[in-house]
Amino acid sequence: MRKSWDNSGAAETVARRSAPLVPVPVNLSIGGVTIAPATVLAPMAGVTDTVFRRFIRNLGGCGLIMTEFTSADGVLRKKDQKAKRYLHFYEDEHPISAQLFGSDPQVMAEAARMVEGLGFDLVDLNLGCPAKKVVKCNGGSGLLRDLPAIGRIFEAVRAAVTIPFTVKFRAGWSDDEIVCVELARMAESCGLAAVALHARTREQGYSGQARWEWIAAIKDAVKIPVIGNGDIRTPEDACAMVTQTGCDAVMIGRMAPSNPWIFRQIEQYCTEQKLYDEPTEADRYQMIRTYFSMLIEEELPDAVGKMKQFASWFTHGVPGGAALRKAIYESKSAVDILGRVEEFFEARLCGAGVLARQAV
Ligand SMILES: Cc1cc2nc3c(=O)[nH]c(=O)nc-3n(C[C@H](O)[C@H](O)[C@H](O)COP(=O)(O)O)c2cc1C
Repeated sequence: MRKSWDNSGAAETVARRSAPLVPVPVNLSIGGVTIAPATVLAPMAGVTDTVFRRFIRNLGGCGLIMTEFTSADGVLRKKDQKAKRYLHFYEDEHPISAQLFGSDPQVMAEAARMVEGLGFDLVDLNLGCPAKKVVKCNGGSGLLRDLPAIGRIFEAVRAAVTIPFTVKFRAGWSDDEIVCVELARMAESCGLAAVALHARTREQGYSGQARWEWIAAIKDAVKIPVIGNGDIRTPEDACAMVTQTGCDAVMIGRMAPSNPWIFRQIEQYCTEQKLYDEPTEADRYQMIRTYFSMLIEEELPDAVGKMKQFASWFTHGVPGGAALRKAIYESKSAVDILGRVEEFFEARLCGAGVLARQAV
């Protein structure tokens, strides 16, 4: 994950930040569903399960959460427990959107109906996934080269459900095949309630800079809400994206696992005279302990793997984090990992007297 966040666009980032900043809107209506504030946790396979989503919700500042992308075929297969697990959510997750991928309009429509029946507030179509496995079956970004096929899915799903239907896409397959403006117009004319753009091409993967000018281009082209996505790492970035593109909401992906406070920070930054809290070490401890305890409680089959993955994102920049990561990687059980985390932070924080002061 780190490799995609190189410094090649540093000068551009500085330039982006020099404009006077417009705050992220306090709310947004997508087909009658209120999103407040206008911030969205990006769908991330392997990350945005029910535990992570509720964890982000509880920290505050995130207006909309989304499931991991889920196969429409899988949802309809009675025995596909994995797909069913992806669509499991709790009451305190509202408003929540279910993201589906697939290429058959009737299957997509049927799966969307199921999503509506499960109580989701919105259903979203994934046209961004670059994974070969998905593209090979014409799903995700594979469809970006076949706009008529996308049109058929739009029509079928729109007719199948009454909840708002949205789409998240990349700008096109490659720099020579940019379709985002045409695609956004088509979404609008087919009755979709909003569009979200990850401003990269499929060919780019996660490399280089997100091209926010494409977000501005679709904002100019349609009246339905436009959600901007790509390379937001700070509250300043979120406001810079709104300033430069006029987008109606911002969506944040990779930054969320390494700084889960980012949504709250954006809210503070936009409402409290451009200031926001930086988490203390005690906050970080509390956060990781809470998240790991939630994972254990939920009894997810891959809790240990998730803890290891999360620890590696989250402990970058924590003094002594490498030793903690090593201890976690060597652990065999979720309870053992939680114990290692407690040991690590308590030794550090008690030594510094921080725990006593902050009453953690
Ligand atoms: C681990 C990982 C999993 C992802 N899974 C999905 C997914 O299931 N559906 C989707 O639309 N995008 C997915 N994405 C893309 C993100 O939603 C987002 O568009 C991308 O990371 C750019 O935003 P960011 O710069 O804020 O990270 C994933 C990204 C990552 C890093």
